Amino acid sequence: MTTKLFAISALLPLSAHAAKFAISARPFGEVDNTKTELYTLSNESGAKVSITNYGGTVTSIVVPDKEGKMGDVVLGFDTVAEYVEKSPYFGCITGRYANRIAKGKFSIDGKEYTVATNNDPNHLHGGLKGFDKRVWKANLGNDGDNPTLTLTYTSPDGEEGYPGTLKNTVTYTWTQDNSLRIDYRSTTDKPTVLNLTNHSYFNLAGEGSKTVLDHSLQVNAKHYTPIDSTSIPTGISPVSGTPFDFSKSTRIGERIDQEDDQLKNGKGYDHNFVLKKEDDGKLMTAAMVTEPTSGRFLIVKTTEPGIQFYSGNFLDGPAGKGGKIYPHRSAMCLEAQTFPDSPNQKEFPSAVLRPGEAYTQTTIYQLGVSN
Ligand code: GLA
Repeated sequence: MTTKLFAISALLPLSAHAAKFAISARPFGEVDNTKTELYTLSNESGAKVSITNYGGTVTSIVVPDKEGKMGDVVLGFDTVAEYVEKSPYFGCITGRYANRIAKGKFSIDGKEYTVATNNDPNHLHGGLKGFDKRVWKANLGNDGDNPTLTLTYTSPDGEEGYPGTLKNTVTYTWTQDNSLRIDYRSTTDKPTVLNLTNHSYFNLAGEGSKTVLDHSLQVNAKHYTPIDSTSIPTGISPVSGTPFDFSKSTRIGERIDQEDDQLKNGKGYDHNFVLKKEDDGKLMTAAMVTEPTSGRFLIVKTTEPGIQFYSGNFLDGPAGKGGKIYPHRSAMCLEAQTFPDSPNQKEFPSAVLRPGEAYTQTTIYQLGVSN
């Protein structure tokens, strides 16, 4: 196995930047007869993120705790074969339509389309072979002091039943302040629907730690979208007076096992929160998570109108990195997105993309420690 390691100081006049970051790449195994690679972007402090071009998957994020000890805060696997075989969407780019489309049907301009009902009776995360299962083209670079990985994938017209040739670019930037910035851009040659997100599973105490029930969460939302028993939204409701009120930082475990129809439908938290009704393209703070033992925090900023909070309800103990077991609720996802089932729900922000337009979204996962 070869490892390419180079510091950008070698590429710039030495006076300009003294090794502010490093990028390495190594083979990660073959999928569909195509080689995949694992890229590691490190900043000056040694904090780093690893991403494979298989599914654009973030496989690790290594950041300090309050004692300065480095730890990996996302769930994942050591080999690409395990991602192919059993990943519950760990760290991937999820698309074309992240989250659910009711009964796998939607219409655009009066024409009906059918997509796979891979989450019976609904469509989930782009279907049988979504963006998480594709090998993306990769380009390494930098944005001044920050290393970048730009991934591209062209999804052919009709792939997984969706109309239009969709050209996608996703750029990951790992900044000096331990933020993972994700910029998405897509264009189409036919009207289509689109909802991209990143599906990282966080445990701020370190992956392989017990549940996230002692993490505290704050969400910048006064409303959420309740769901039916198949996880399809039934409208928009206030969070006030419900276990979904995270307007003040609250322990995730505090209300998760309450007798509540919504928690029952989601088997815990698996709901979209309304950050704003329209996608106005402005970056806003969507959520903040804190973990008491490590002192770590996570701030999520996004341009998207919604964020899905999923409390790892379907995690059932797969063996992950280094053979560590990932039990029920041992991680949480905060998936910035447009609302689930938007193609079928007129009062939700539109998920339609037309030729000549560009879909853009930015989400930032900022990691840090509280003093
Ligand atoms: C999303 C969904 C969940 C589940 C996970 C993957 O968060 O909302 O219901 O499917 O992905 O297991």
